[in-house]
Amino acid sequence: MKIALGCDHGGLGLKKEIAVLLQEMGQEVVDLGTDSPDSVPYPSFAEAVCAEIIAGRCQRGILICGTGIGMSMAANRHQQIRAALCHELFTARLSREHNDANVLCLGARVIGSGLALEMVKTWLATEFDGGRHLERIAMFS
Ligand code: RB5
Repeated sequence: MKIALGCDHGGLGLKKEIAVLLQEMGQEVVDLGTDSPDSVPYPSFAEAVCAEIIAGRCQRGILICGTGIGMSMAANRHQQIRAALCHELFTARLSREHNDANVLCLGARVIGSGLALEMVKTWLATEFDGGRHLERIAMFS
């Protein structure tokens, strides 16, 4: 799977850990920055990741900022994007099974990296249930 990664300065450390994990898992990573601790606007990186998915160049995206809130707000402005802000394993799994989330948003100042890495593994391993959930997500406008 080809996975786009993006973060702001608040998510840089966690993004680096996630990139290592994904490479160890044999996933293809497209790292769209930021790569420095300097303060940057998170919407720019949300846009870059969403553009990869909308164009079909990546199948999934992971966005990390301080809380994950700004990233999820910015990403969900696109009709083709279903971004889920998750802080624990249950919603990470359900965001795939019920919502077919194609972007996972994480708050690096909210959760520890151990939990975040487990969430990434769960989120990538979980398939969409389809069925009744298909018509529900089709109602998003
Ligand atoms: C940056 O300070 C912070 O606002 C950002 O990382 C994020 O938490 C926004 O939602």
